[in-house]
Amino acid sequence: MRVPEELKDRSSVAIVINEQKTMRTYHIHTIVLLTALVVIASLLNSCSDLKSVQDLPTASSGKLQVHDAGWLDTAASNFHGVVLKHSQYNLNECATCHSKQFTGGTSGVACSKCHQDYPHPTGFGASTSHPQYLYNQNYPLGQCKACHGATYAGGGDANLSCMRSGCHVDANNVSKSPEACNVCHGIFNAAANDLVSAAPPKSILNNTDPTARGVGAHQKHLVTGTNGKAVKCQECHTVPAQLFSPGHLGTLPAEVVFNDTLARLTTGGGTAVPKPSYDPSTLKCSNTYCHGNWGIRKATSSSQFIFVDSVMVGANDSPAWTGGSAAAACGTCHGIPPKGHLALAVSSCGTCHIGVVDNNGKIVDKTKHGNGKINVFGQEYAF
Ligand code: HEC
Ligand code: HEC
Ligand code: HEC
Ligand code: HEC
Ligand code: HEC
Ligand code: HEC
Ligand code: HEC
Repeated sequence: MRVPEELKDRSSVAIVINEQKTMRTYHIHTIVLLTALVVIASLLNSCSDLKSVQDLPTASSGKLQVHDAGWLDTAASNFHGVVLKHSQYNLNECATCHSKQFTGGTSGVACSKCHQDYPHPTGFGASTSHPQYLYNQNYPLGQCKACHGATYAGGGDANLSCMRSGCHVDANNVSKSPEACNVCHGIFNAAANDLVSAAPPKSILNNTDPTARGVGAHQKHLVTGTNGKAVKCQECHTVPAQLFSPGHLGTLPAEVVFNDTLARLTTGGGTAVPKPSYDPSTLKCSNTYCHGNWGIRKATSSSQFIFVDSVMVGANDSPAWTGGSAAAACGTCHGIPPKGHLALAVSSCGTCHIGVVDNNGKIVDKTKHGNGKINVFGQEYAF
């Protein structure tokens, strides 16, 4: 065998598993030939002289030779790495002797003798490594299924389930598929069917800090937010029905569109039509109903006394996604009170906007604030 000395003890031999090549040419003809000889010998003479395996013809090394010469010679055309590459890394046959987890099996030779963590590079199981690999390769999950099984429960070539304890399970140790919506982004140990938990943090690239664009103000917009109604994912994104739905996956940044009803709510009796948009270079959204692109006309109001102008309008703010709480401070989306509204002290707002704010200007029911409805005098009605 001519394995270069420095490779023999190499701690890691990284293996790329997405090569597309031709048919495999792996032979075990030595063993086939030997079996045939044994069969022929026993047919000719039922009391064979063969006593032990040591009596079989041996390779020059003195051991039973299962693989052809060249199998360990990196320069040979039938070097095992080359043969495997050409078979698109079909390891089924190897597994029959080297075991499904390549720890040796009946052959007694573990692939990890030379390839640490075969068939993955060292540390592939870490929470950043294989997610990053998958993102870089645009999620070739078929590859993983080939060895880890069609449902990732083990089988195929590797009897290693992705859903074993400590890996893809939720906080209650219930298995969840690596394709669950909160695996690649969101709260990894939340239950598989909890869609809200699919929002970052964590982001695709494993960020958890709200100053990272992939994290930003997600939590402030969801049930966990403090001042406003929970915003659905579909207000800002096209939510994929399935993992491989068109538009999902692909390269970052994520697409932000406002195709639902709240961000583009028409107000002012049809005069204020927001055209919301998101700028992925400045990370700012603009012209959303939510951040103050709205108006009410005095002419059609049943409470004209509250107007000091012909219209009352919001501030039409353009907050930055990573701007933190300053980007949505009280007064940014609409004045306190709004422009065109009778100037009144904050301590009075709760007197008329009953159940929305208290007399300290604190929001007391966030489901009534930013809900697309006028809430005043204990009533709720459309703009
Ligand atoms: C005696 C040491 C040794 C053992 C044992 C061994 N290999 Fe290798 N293998 C090597 C060397 C050396 C290379 C060449 C590495 C390189 O070119 O970087 C290699 C390369 C490979 C490659 C090609 C890598 C590539 O990037 O294309 C594959 C696949 C491979 N081995 C699979 C296996 C499997 C499967 C087993 C167990 C059934 C195994 N090897 C056992 C030494 C070994
Ligand atoms: C029929 C059983 C059998 C099959 C199938 C088999 N092997 Fe082996 N393999 C062995 C045995 C036994 C040895 C140890 C004796 C030897 O080196 O020939 C071995 C040795 C090796 C070695 C050399 C290890 C060393 O340290 O010398 C490599 C590399 C290897 N096998 C890779 C593979 C790969 C890759 C496959 C699938 C393409 C495969 N084997 C399929 C039985 C098998
Ligand atoms: C060629 C077969 C094969 C393919 C393809 C394959 N795996 Fe594996 N995988 C294995 C085997 C075998 C092990 C166990 C290795 C070990 O225990 O060191 C393993 C282990 C792992 C581990 C655990 C590693 C650890 O350190 O605990 C992860 C994570 C993993 N694979 C992810 C993937 C992903 C993601 C893909 C698809 C990109 C994939 N695998 C494709 C065979 C494969
Ligand atoms: C208020 C609008 C808004 C809502 C609601 C929202 N997102 Fe986002 N989302 C964004 C913005 C803005 C980005 C960052 C885009 C960029 O990087 O420029 C983003 C990015 C993402 C990303 C990519 C993360 C990364 O690593 O870059 C994912 C995944 C995502 N959102 C999922 C969700 C899910 C799931 C929900 C619902 C549970 C949701 N979002 C709700 C605005 C929103
Ligand atoms: C295998 C990893 C993976 C899984 C599983 C996954 N996503 Fe994503 N998701 C991504 C990536 C990568 C992006 C960012 C891609 C982009 O920018 O186009 C993303 C982006 C998103 C976004 C932001 C909008 C967009 O398409 O950019 C939403 C919403 C989203 N995913 C929802 C889901 C839902 C719902 C599921 C479950 C059906 C799911 N994701 C499962 C990887 C995943
Ligand atoms: C993110 C933008 C935003 C911020 C920040 C914001 N508001 Fe509002 N607010 C709205 C919108 C949009 C409306 C219009 C009505 C609706 O959709 O609930 C509104 C309406 C109101 C109303 C009228 C009652 C109602 O809900 O119809 C009061 C009172 C009010 N806000 C007080 C406050 C106070 C006090 C603060 C600071 C603690 C604040 N707002 C911060 C967006 C905001
Ligand atoms: C005397 C009663 C009264 C007080 C006090 C009052 N408002 Fe209003 N406000 C109204 C009425 C009535 C409307 C609705 C006008 C309409 O529907 O045509 C309104 C409308 C609004 C709107 C826009 C429509 C909506 O409901 O979202 C906002 C925002 C608002 N007020 C905020 C405030 C804030 C902030 C304060 C405290 C600084 C305040 N208001 C104090 C009576 C009051």
